[in-house]
Amino acid sequence: MENRSQWGTRLGFLLAAMGSAIGLGNIWRFPATAFDNGGGAFFIPYLFALLTAGIPLLIMEYTIGHKYRSSAPRSFKRVSKGMEWIGWWQIGISFIISAYYPIIVAWAAMYAYFSFGQSWGDDPTGFFVGDFLQLADAGTFGSMVPAVLFPLLAIWAVVFLILGRGIKKGIEVANKIFIPLLAIIFIIIVIRAITLPGAVDGLEAFFAPDWSTILDGSVWVAAYGQIFFSLSIAFAIMITYASYLPKKSDITNNAFITGFANSSFELLAGIGVFAALGFMANQAGVAVSEVARGGVGLAFMVFPEIISQMPASGLFGFLFFASLVLAGLSSLISISETYIAGIQEKFNISRGLAVAIGGGIAAVASLFFANQGGLNLLDTVDYFINNYGVALAGLFEVVAIAWFARSLKDLQNYANDVSDIKLGYWWRFCLTFITPAVLGYMMLQNLSNDIA
Ligand code: PHE
Ligand code: NA
Repeated sequence: MENRSQWGTRLGFLLAAMGSAIGLGNIWRFPATAFDNGGGAFFIPYLFALLTAGIPLLIMEYTIGHKYRSSAPRSFKRVSKGMEWIGWWQIGISFIISAYYPIIVAWAAMYAYFSFGQSWGDDPTGFFVGDFLQLADAGTFGSMVPAVLFPLLAIWAVVFLILGRGIKKGIEVANKIFIPLLAIIFIIIVIRAITLPGAVDGLEAFFAPDWSTILDGSVWVAAYGQIFFSLSIAFAIMITYASYLPKKSDITNNAFITGFANSSFELLAGIGVFAALGFMANQAGVAVSEVARGGVGLAFMVFPEIISQMPASGLFGFLFFASLVLAGLSSLISISETYIAGIQEKFNISRGLAVAIGGGIAAVASLFFANQGGLNLLDTVDYFINNYGVALAGLFEVVAIAWFARSLKDLQNYANDVSDIKLGYWWRFCLTFITPAVLGYMMLQNLSNDIA
C-alpha cells in the first residue's frame, strides 16, 4: 500500500474539516432558513437534526475514511465490492458544485474590491445584475464572463497552488491561516452589526419563535437539509479528509468538535445577518420581514445596500466580502480534493497530474458555466444538487452501510478503539432508522412539491 499523505497535526485536520463545513451555507443559507422555518422555534428541529443525523453521519464518514485510508470510491469498495459507485456519485456532486461555487467566490472577491470605492452606488441590485453581471434581469440566461473572468481564474490559480502543495503543506497550511482569520473578521463584523441602531429589532425577528411550525414536516426537512449541506456530509469530502488522519486519532471527539464549531458559526452568522437587516429595516422604516432574504440576493444586493448606509462602509464592506471569500475558498478546496484524490487512486497517477486534470476540467467547467448560465441556471443547478443529489447520496450511503453491508457494528468498534467518547446503540439506531427515514421522506416531499 502506498505511503499515504497525512495531516501534520490534529488541529490541522480539524481546521480543514471546519474550513469545509463553514461556508456560504452558514453565512447566507442558515439565517434565511431559520427565519423562514419558525425563527427561534427552528432551533429544536435543527438541534435534533444535528444530534440524530449530522454528528452520527460525520462520525461514520470519519471512521470510514480513517479505517480504509482511501478516497471515497475506494473506501466504499473496501466496504463491499459493489459499492464503489456511491463514492463516484458523491464525487460527481462535488464536481458539479465546483463548477459554480467558485463563481460565487469570485463575485465576493470582486465585491471586496468594489467595497473601497463602493462602486455599486445607491442601486446595488441594478449594479449587480446590470453593470456587473451584464444581464438584462436576474432571470436572463446570458454571459457572465466579462466581469468574472479574471477573478475566476485568480481563484482557480489559488486553489491549484494550495492543492498542488499537498495535504500538509497545502490544505493544512491554508486552513490554518484562513479559518482563524475568518473567525476574527466575523467576530468584528458581528460586534459592529449588533451595535447598529435597529439591530435589536432584527434579532427579535430572528429569534421570535413561531411554535406553530414545530409539527410541520417541511420544517423538519429544512432542518435536516441544512445540517447535511452545512456539515458537508455525503459529498465524499469528510471521508477523503479523514483518510489523511494519522492512525491514532480520536474520531468521535473530532466529529463533535467539527459539528459544534460549524453550528456556533452558523448561529453567529444568524445574529450578524439579522442585526444588519434590523438596521436596514430601521433606516427604511419597514418591518424586518420585508428585507429578510438569503442566497445570492442577500450577499450581493441587500448587503451592499446595508453596508453603504454604515459608517466606515468601505472597511466593513471589505471585511464582509473577504469573509465570504475565505469561507468559500476553504470549502472549494475541500470539494476539489474529493475528485483529485479519487482520480489519483483510480488511475494511479501522481498528485500533481491529478490536480492538473481534475482541477483543470473543473476550471473549464466553471468558465463554461459562467459563460452559458445566468443567475437562473445557477439557482436551478443548486436546487437540484441540494434537494436530490445530496439527499440521494446520503440515502445511498447510509442504506448501503447500515442495511446492505451491515457494517455499523464493525465501524462502531473501530471508532471506539481510537476514541474517548464511546459510541453505543443510539449511534447505530440513528443511522439505521432515523437518517434513512428522514432522507427518504425528504426525497418524497421534494418530489411531490416539484411535480405539483
Ligand atoms: N458546508 C458548506 C457550507 O456550509 C457547503 C459545502 C457544500 C461545501 C458542499 C463543500 C461542499 O457552506
Ligand atoms: Na456549514
